[in-house]
Amino acid sequence: MNNSAIGVFDSGVGGLTCVDELRKLMPNEDIIYLGDTARIPYGTKSKHTIYSYAKQDIAFLEQHDVKMILVACGTVSSVMMSMPVFEDSATELKSGVVLPAAHAACAATKNKRIGVIGTSATIKSGSYGKVIHEIMPEVKVVGMACPMFVPLVENGYTSKDCEPARFFANQYLEIMKKEQVDTLILGCTHYPHLSELISDIMGSEVTLISSGAELAKYALKTLSYNDALCGRDCPGELKLFCTDSEELFRENVQKLMDTNINAKISKCTLKF
Ligand code: DGL
Repeated sequence: MNNSAIGVFDSGVGGLTCVDELRKLMPNEDIIYLGDTARIPYGTKSKHTIYSYAKQDIAFLEQHDVKMILVACGTVSSVMMSMPVFEDSATELKSGVVLPAAHAACAATKNKRIGVIGTSATIKSGSYGKVIHEIMPEVKVVGMACPMFVPLVENGYTSKDCEPARFFANQYLEIMKKEQVDTLILGCTHYPHLSELISDIMGSEVTLISSGAELAKYALKTLSYNDALCGRDCPGELKLFCTDSEELFRENVQKLMDTNINAKISKCTLKF
């Protein structure tokens, strides 16, 4: 048993898709979330910049009492496959989104054609393809970067009837329809906020995999395997930190979180 918190980070509100699922699966756990809103987007930055941001995010979470760190950012999760973002970290339990989402997609596909959408950095890294091919070498993986999706989500343009969102989604998803993928990994944790629109374009027979939600399921398995679930019998606390305006962050959180939250939101400064 371990009553320390689960630490989660992303560049913005995307990682809340993981937090939502964590709270459904493990309502008694304390969660500390960092959204690096002052420096979002990460997905258009170089590997070296993303690496140094990630190390600062991890160091911030480790100033708190955390038992596990979840990288609820597809971009950092992809970069950390080739760069040691946890090299200064003492936290043993950690994971990014790539492995859990790749496993879920391999379990879901029937026609062995999997699509991956993500930030430019994620798609360029080929991270999902590498892991999927280790699990199922015969799968065809089709990747597409969707750079306009993060700003749309961060500004609240997520509805299925939003014309600008539909315009970009139609362009980005055309190749996925042409390649007839039956499973689509939302490889950036912001994208599940657009899943109604994405599903409308792809059709209901295509399975959407939320990388953030898969990470939360993986966290439950890992904590329970390591006998590190909390022993409390009451709802856990959710503390949210952002690096830019608290008001803006609060507005977005209220728009995007599934569950009603009564979370404390604070602005923090990261050590450079
Ligand atoms: N939510 C992020 C991801 O999963 C990052 C988006 C961004 O900062 O560009 O990739």
